[in-house]
Amino acid sequence: MSIVEDNEILTRVGRGTPMGELFRRYWMPALLSEELPEPDCAPVRVKLLNEDLVAFRDSNGRVGLLGEYCSHRRASLFYGRVEDCSITCVYHGWKYDVDGTVLDIPAEPETSRLKDTIQHKSYPCEERNGVVLTYMGPKEKMPLVPNLPWFTLPRDHVVVGSKLFLECNWLQALEGDNDSIHSAYLHRRISGEGDPMNQARRRPARVAIDRLPWGVRAATIYPYDDTQEMVRTNTFLMPCIGNTPRGDSPNGYNEAVHTIYQVPADDYTNWRYDFEVWWDKSVDDSYARSDRAEVGSDFMSYYTRANNYRLSREEQKSGDFWCGVAARNHTQDKMVTESMGAISDRSQENLGASDMHIIAMRRFMLEAVRTMAEGGDPPGLAWTPEENQSRDYPYMITSVLPTGADWKECLPKV
Ligand code: FES
Ligand SMILES: [Fe+2]
Repeated sequence: MSIVEDNEILTRVGRGTPMGELFRRYWMPALLSEELPEPDCAPVRVKLLNEDLVAFRDSNGRVGLLGEYCSHRRASLFYGRVEDCSITCVYHGWKYDVDGTVLDIPAEPETSRLKDTIQHKSYPCEERNGVVLTYMGPKEKMPLVPNLPWFTLPRDHVVVGSKLFLECNWLQALEGDNDSIHSAYLHRRISGEGDPMNQARRRPARVAIDRLPWGVRAATIYPYDDTQEMVRTNTFLMPCIGNTPRGDSPNGYNEAVHTIYQVPADDYTNWRYDFEVWWDKSVDDSYARSDRAEVGSDFMSYYTRANNYRLSREEQKSGDFWCGVAARNHTQDKMVTESMGAISDRSQENLGASDMHIIAMRRFMLEAVRTMAEGGDPPGLAWTPEENQSRDYPYMITSVLPTGADWKECLPKV
């Protein structure tokens, strides 16, 4: 298949598209728990995989995620009344449970069976560590919520950094999260020049690919000195998760992982969720506070194409931020990924040896699409507790090792 055809397959996420159907087989973030802070609070519009939805928290604290348009005559449930363990459309009073059951149609005769014949669109929700997850696939195929550390570690080990709206397709955003090379340029700080690791990271590197059962780990290996190399890993996990190292490496692997989900709102826009995950210690929310200083209460960034992301030519010439945007990584990432256009034209790219992880990820996803087309299940799903393990996949490495040493030895035996 041509690059253009592959690009269409990988980027389109509506129902019925190959990638859209694949996405719908996974539990994915729909919104943050804090967006529905208390029972019977105001509902929230949610756009997910090209579908218009409304989330609400009922009187018992349960989260419902319903199709936005009323099953009666399509008025938006966003304007509905949230009360009495339900959401009620304000047009003619149709009343819905969190699972889409029509509880009442007050204008119909008492003998009417109409409400029993209608099931309003709804998707199941689960809350984990401050995130509302949903599953939009076939009921009979619903897997367990994955036991990934950002969902299973104690709440105070996990910081939800931010949620951030991106005006571009999800895939180009995800590719950045799995590209070790870019952070030594785009996120470069002149004040960090003295660090020999930072110096190493701007030397030509090679990328070793480690194909996992449900993703692709890459070790980017940089020359360090005459006898040592520096190894830095990134791990892509299906369907839209990027993991990068964070913190020090007292035990060979990093003490924390920076996890990013790129969740498609539609083909042209995307919600980015950042998590900071500490294996063995609790942390405060300073990471979240810093990230959130760059977005409004609606999670829209103050840095946009309209203001050129506040890029300063003076900063580029003589400031600390090499790229010219004196901001957090997620904002700098936003600038470059949005600048590619709504959907990057990958037929115009020129990939090199340092792009091996990107190439391997695309191949992995296309294979998963093919597996589904042939009737199989996509990788990384679990239906039993025994299957539901993240193994060593979320552990990250940033280490200086003897040249040629096996970097996988740094991973914990789990
Ligand atoms: S459109 Fe919602 S009740 Fe009529
Ligand atoms: Fe980045």
